[in-house]
Amino acid sequence: MSFFDTDFHCHILPGIDDGAADLDVSLGLLHMQAAQGVRTVIATPHYRHHQQSVSRFLENRQTAFEEVKAHAFDGMPRILLAAEVALERNLSEVKDIASLSCAEMNTLLIELPLFESYHKWMAEEIEEISYRTRKQIMIAHLDRYVDMYSTKDYADILNIPDAIFQFNLSTFSDRKAKKLLKQLVKDEYPLVFGTDCHNLTGRKSNFDVLGKQMKKYEPSVIVERLFAGLE
Ligand SMILES: [Fe+2]
Repeated sequence: MSFFDTDFHCHILPGIDDGAADLDVSLGLLHMQAAQGVRTVIATPHYRHHQQSVSRFLENRQTAFEEVKAHAFDGMPRILLAAEVALERNLSEVKDIASLSCAEMNTLLIELPLFESYHKWMAEEIEEISYRTRKQIMIAHLDRYVDMYSTKDYADILNIPDAIFQFNLSTFSDRKAKKLLKQLVKDEYPLVFGTDCHNLTGRKSNFDVLGKQMKKYEPSVIVERLFAGLE
């Protein structure tokens, strides 16, 4: 398992969120990922606290995972379970939020609100979540906010202690997102990538982009540390 064969963000589990609608789509995505060089996928179905309890989510996720496991094929990437947790006010007060982390990596993937401009409470809430859960925070698709966030907004997010920043591979087809990524690479922030694939049509896996675009990239020590003990 390494930086170059791990998809850190995807919606491949069947019937659990707006990702893979059924088992056929799940297996289709996993075949696609395998062909693109993925050996490990971190399955990150959406979790929204105002819609669902953590325990119900974990049950549903397990059922979806078992379904895929029962149809595993030769060369199928290993699946690690996690979640893409939508940031809400006071989310840090939810007792069992830590159980949404990726157990193997001890990371918690947090999604900033997609249709809201940046507010100070967001970074503060994330810091509180990190403090209370003792999990390493991973910020989902940092590239998604380039049309909404100012440089100062981004600086707030980038200042969250010990956070890791995840970019979607679609970054490479967006001028502004690419510029942000370039800056973060230069400043040596800990970065990881994901396909954020949802289906076999508009949002399929594009993992092959990673090898093409980041060939000479050396992942940060903080990121390499995530893989320790996982082989
Ligand atoms: Fe996602």
